[in-house]
Amino acid sequence: MTKLVIVNREGAETEVDVADGITVMEAIRDNGFDELLALCGGCCSCATCHVHVDPAFAGMLPPVGADENDLLDSSDNRDANSRLSCQLTITPEMNGLKVRIAEED
Ligand code: FES
Repeated sequence: MTKLVIVNREGAETEVDVADGITVMEAIRDNGFDELLALCGGCCSCATCHVHVDPAFAGMLPPVGADENDLLDSSDNRDANSRLSCQLTITPEMNGLKVRIAEED
């Protein structure tokens, strides 16, 4: 199990223990955060799973893929720490990862 800290749109932080091998999107959704729509179910085609990753963890994440990059460009709220959470598979090295659910576009 790996610990994630999820910050909702109001700024409230919730710590959850999640299984390795699922995606950050699945971890957020499975823990009852209905702010994260994840409409395409993780196919990297909707951008409704947008999160801002705590910069302290940026170096341990896989690089942004081309499709992910294009989709993030469609968001008015993209910043340097933006990722699509369905493209981030949880590994033990991510223990303590903090992500904030992005503003609604
Ligand atoms: S769930 Fe649609 S792009 Fe991530």
